Amino acid sequence: MKILGIETSCDETAVAVLEVNTDFKKKKGIKPGDLKVLSNIVSSQIKLHAKYGGVVPNLAAREHTKNISHVFKTALKVAKVKDIKKEINLLAVTRGPGLSPALLVGLTFAKTVSWKYNIPIIGVNHLEAHILSNWLKTVGEISNVSPIMNLVVSGGHTELVLMKDFGKYELVGETLDDAVGEAFDKVARLLGLGYPGGPAISKIAVNGDPSHYPLPSPMLNSKNFDFSYSGLKTAVLYLKRDLEIKGKKLTKAQKADIAASFQKSACEVLIKKTIKAAKQFGAKSVFLSGGVSGNVYLRENLGIAAIKEGLKFNKPAPEYTTDNAAMIGVAGYINFLKNKKTPDTWSDVEMDSNLNF
Ligand code: KG4
Ligand code: ZN
Repeated sequence: MKILGIETSCDETAVAVLEVNTDFKKKKGIKPGDLKVLSNIVSSQIKLHAKYGGVVPNLAAREHTKNISHVFKTALKVAKVKDIKKEINLLAVTRGPGLSPALLVGLTFAKTVSWKYNIPIIGVNHLEAHILSNWLKTVGEISNVSPIMNLVVSGGHTELVLMKDFGKYELVGETLDDAVGEAFDKVARLLGLGYPGGPAISKIAVNGDPSHYPLPSPMLNSKNFDFSYSGLKTAVLYLKRDLEIKGKKLTKAQKADIAASFQKSACEVLIKKTIKAAKQFGAKSVFLSGGVSGNVYLRENLGIAAIKEGLKFNKPAPEYTTDNAAMIGVAGYINFLKNKKTPDTWSDVEMDSNLNF
């Protein structure tokens, strides 16, 4: 069975083709060879939005419109799909959450393909797809790893989601203001590092001292599992202002120390609260996902902390951390198997830009 995934919720136009072995249905796990990503094409608009320091929704939509046909054709070509109608069995498309004008482009494109070739279509929750990106590699049977405490960290979300089974999610905690990826982006902008900030911060942080500037880890000791990043971002703003007093510019070493100190503060609270939530909710595993899960400091230290507590730990391969359509494909597939209802016809799939768990 072949699935075509489409993702346009933010600033990546992405199309992927997956081949799956339906053996998964019985075992509810993915063994080596069960699932193959035949193509995973991502056209990023990073350069376009960089000058604005963040994604501009209408510009994103315009670019998706320009690029989607080409990305679609490339994904089919790389996957060696010659006859869409005969070879593609299911379409999976992001229906939310995301930027409305951007989502509409992918959704309308997918519905048109579904209508034209009469292929069943399934609308996917982007956040669930980040979680299910963990299933793009071998994951044993769900019963061996669940309940799972998922830390979903991206440019738009910072969430702790307890997963008891496919489709059974409970939101345990979330950010009260900025998402952690957004904080990385804003701090990078303050340091003049450009957009997206996450990879830029982690790159220079390697040469910095994480203890040089004591920055706050907001809500580290709060009783709930919520997060807050606006205070940390403001603390970096004041630190920069104090260091730049009398017209001095930040040195390369100071920038590296700020980046390392910020990264440590931002990640410490994620690690501590995820482990605490996993223990409190009786989770067997901790799974990490979303764009910020590409951060090496977070990947390594959350893994170490989880394993120390006897929890299993999983994270997607680096190419599936930021937005991509392979994760939309795997989420569509898992939902298709799980749902008792048959997939939708093209007219039934609706956008929901504020969709959550
Ligand atoms: O999941 P994603 O591609 O898009 C959303 O759904 O938001 O996440 C993008 C976010 C950006 O804020 C970016 O700065 C952050 O992920 N990011 C990182 C790293 N790579 C990407 N943050 C920290 N460290 C990284 N290595
Ligand atoms: Zn995302």
